[in-house]
Amino acid sequence: MKILVTGGTGYIGSHTVVELQNRGHEVIIIDNLSNSYSTVVDQIEKITGKRPVFEVFDLTDKAKTAAFFQQNSDLDGIIHFAAYKAVGESVEKPLKYYRNNLESLLNILDGMQEYKIPSLVFSSSCTVYGEPDELPVSEAAPIKPATSPYGNTKQISEEIIRDTAANSSFNAILLRYFNPIGAHESALIGELPIGVPNNLIPYITQTAAGIREQLSVFGDDYDTPDGTAIRDYIHVTDLAKAHIAALERMAHKKSKEKVEAFNVGTGNGYSVLEVIRAFEKSTGEKLNYKIAPRRAGDVEKVWSETTLANNELGWKAEKNIEEMMASAWKWQLALEKK
Ligand code: UFG
Repeated sequence: MKILVTGGTGYIGSHTVVELQNRGHEVIIIDNLSNSYSTVVDQIEKITGKRPVFEVFDLTDKAKTAAFFQQNSDLDGIIHFAAYKAVGESVEKPLKYYRNNLESLLNILDGMQEYKIPSLVFSSSCTVYGEPDELPVSEAAPIKPATSPYGNTKQISEEIIRDTAANSSFNAILLRYFNPIGAHESALIGELPIGVPNNLIPYITQTAAGIREQLSVFGDDYDTPDGTAIRDYIHVTDLAKAHIAALERMAHKKSKEKVEAFNVGTGNGYSVLEVIRAFEKSTGEKLNYKIAPRRAGDVEKVWSETTLANNELGWKAEKNIEEMMASAWKWQLALEKK
């Protein structure tokens, strides 16, 4: 299949391009490089032996996006990653988030409608469930009011896709990611946090590498066995493979509804302290950390019910937490060499 991957030089996008090319699909990347580097395309070529087509422009540019679709009206599917994703920044600059994340989606949907492109995979998030009432959280759980403009763009995007698909020929699959971590086994691509990391795993690896002095564990008074918050961490390569399963489901006409949503997690929850222990065990490094106050806006605990994704997509996460930590550390060491 000929697949457009928006945001294809980003963290999850680049790993997905690798898996698509490994499966023999033809890839076109569009990225504006706002939070990634063009050298990622060289790395993808090193891993797969194939260079994806790469176009640099901003998908909020309606004219450029329309011109792209006119020239590529034979696409078999689109995986739409391109979006801003920093929760804290979205609170400070909500319009930046609404404009970027929603206008780009609208321009893509225009193209899909006009040229009858059959399939869309959309990057959604477990953030749509907020603090779930039942765990593990299933796709049938209620959508809770968003706690950040970033989270709201994911909820609104899901609604826009549902409304548009209801009156168009395309199918869509919304993938609700839990916490993607780790890096490709080659350590040629991975997450490139710019500045001080917000997320747990890059903060851990940078602390172990001596770039940060100490990790703060945000809260040890949650209602969890060790008091620290629980998440469902998933290896980025496992996550990438879920996108291929979603595209192939639509291509083989196996969708049961025009728009389907699937959780993409492992089904296992780990506390912050358990993650630290897994890191220490799998790398042999000792981590300097302290307990700090809770971080505003954090959910206490969330992990996924994966039965639907397992049964319907025929997909299952394979890598365990220690493999995830080992790959994140290998990537950190590779980054330092660079
Ligand atoms: N944490 C720490 N110390 C740190 C960083 C994080 O203790 O320095 C804790 C957090 O409090 C949380 C856990 O580690 O309990 C995971 O935090 P992350 O920031 O790595 O991930 P989040 O679950 O907060 O956020 C992720 C994505 C967001 C998305 C959110 C909900 O990074 O983009 O899930 O979908 F919005």
